[in-house]
Amino acid sequence: MAHLQVNGVIKRFGNQTVVDGLDFAVERGELVSLLGPSGCGKTTLLRMIAGLVHADGGRIALAGRELAEVPAHRRNVSVVFQSYALFPHLSVRENVAFGLRARGVAASEAATRVEDVLALVRMQAFADGPVTQLSGGQQQRVAVARALVVQPDLLLLDEPFSALDRKLRETMQIELKALLKSRGMTAVFVTHDQDEALTVSDRIAVMNAGRIEQFADPGTLYAKPATAFALDFVGLSTRLTGQVTQLADGYITISTATGELRANAKFSRGSKVLLGVRPERIRLGAGGAEDNTLQAPVTDVVPLGARTHLYFQAADGDRLLCELPGTADTSETQPGDRVTLHWPVSDTLVYPASV
Ligand SMILES: Nc1ncnc2c1ncn2[C@@H]1O[C@H](COP(=O)(O)OP(=O)(O)O)[C@@H](O)[C@H]1O
Ligand SMILES: [Mg+2]
Repeated sequence: MAHLQVNGVIKRFGNQTVVDGLDFAVERGELVSLLGPSGCGKTTLLRMIAGLVHADGGRIALAGRELAEVPAHRRNVSVVFQSYALFPHLSVRENVAFGLRARGVAASEAATRVEDVLALVRMQAFADGPVTQLSGGQQQRVAVARALVVQPDLLLLDEPFSALDRKLRETMQIELKALLKSRGMTAVFVTHDQDEALTVSDRIAVMNAGRIEQFADPGTLYAKPATAFALDFVGLSTRLTGQVTQLADGYITISTATGELRANAKFSRGSKVLLGVRPERIRLGAGGAEDNTLQAPVTDVVPLGARTHLYFQAADGDRLLCELPGTADTSETQPGDRVTLHWPVSDTLVYPASV
């Protein structure tokens, strides 16, 4: 059994089902993200695991213990909230020590543990100062120290970086991941930010409307999105809608508004499909027998430094985007030019079209 085991968990608010028979398992020492759009049920799932919200069905077990009858304060789970929820009238040290006092840890041991975690988050120098005068990044470190000092079986973090500006957020993500790994901590992050999920996680659960669409490591999630939603939510993609016209030897031919394309996929003739390609798989010029080739007019050339995005005119609802390395010479490519593109048939992803 996994360290955290969530089986068939359901949560309803009124007649709205917010978490819909969800299964989820996290191994000991794993850092996992729940990634999905606002309102998909991430926080609700986190709060059910923490015991702050009562599930309407299903089971949650942590470290081999069924949690249904265990109140929040006895689950040995720590939560870091988006707002940090620090006590403004207490010093940094008192904030961190708070949970230990509540758990009846002896004063001398508590003092040692508080010093340890303050060192871990590099906040010793601020220990006796008020938390109200700390920067956002420092407050976040205190919130993490306070969560870790009780030595939880599981750390839950709900959008823990969202109050920080972009640069600091990226630094804190890498720092926190290293810190949690060094402690062998098991953690679940909630985020709607794909870059954050890709940075901090061993595995990412892509959530949509109260369910998990895919649970995989970042590489797999990007290269082999299990659903059209996962394709769209993580990374950029070229997306074309079409209809399957031919089947042969495990390959299908798809007729799109921009041209005929092939893919290695199983669909019946006549199926309406959505075809996806990661933009950096697409190259300029005609391809070979193992490639899909298209022609389309360029609409925009966007130099982004390390890479260049080329947008092409496509039918309504379709999007044709190519990403070239920043070193590629696009000086000859102008909006309005009709350009030939290709990419490997094996990199062509196909999903049932949502009707
Ligand atoms: N206490 C509540 N009462 C009623 N509806 C709620 C409550 N908490 C959350 N919801 C609803 O449940 C859905 C999922 O919310 P939430 O879990 O906060 O999503 P997320 O964290 O993914 O943004 C939303 O539609 C939200 O309005
Ligand atoms: Mg939320």
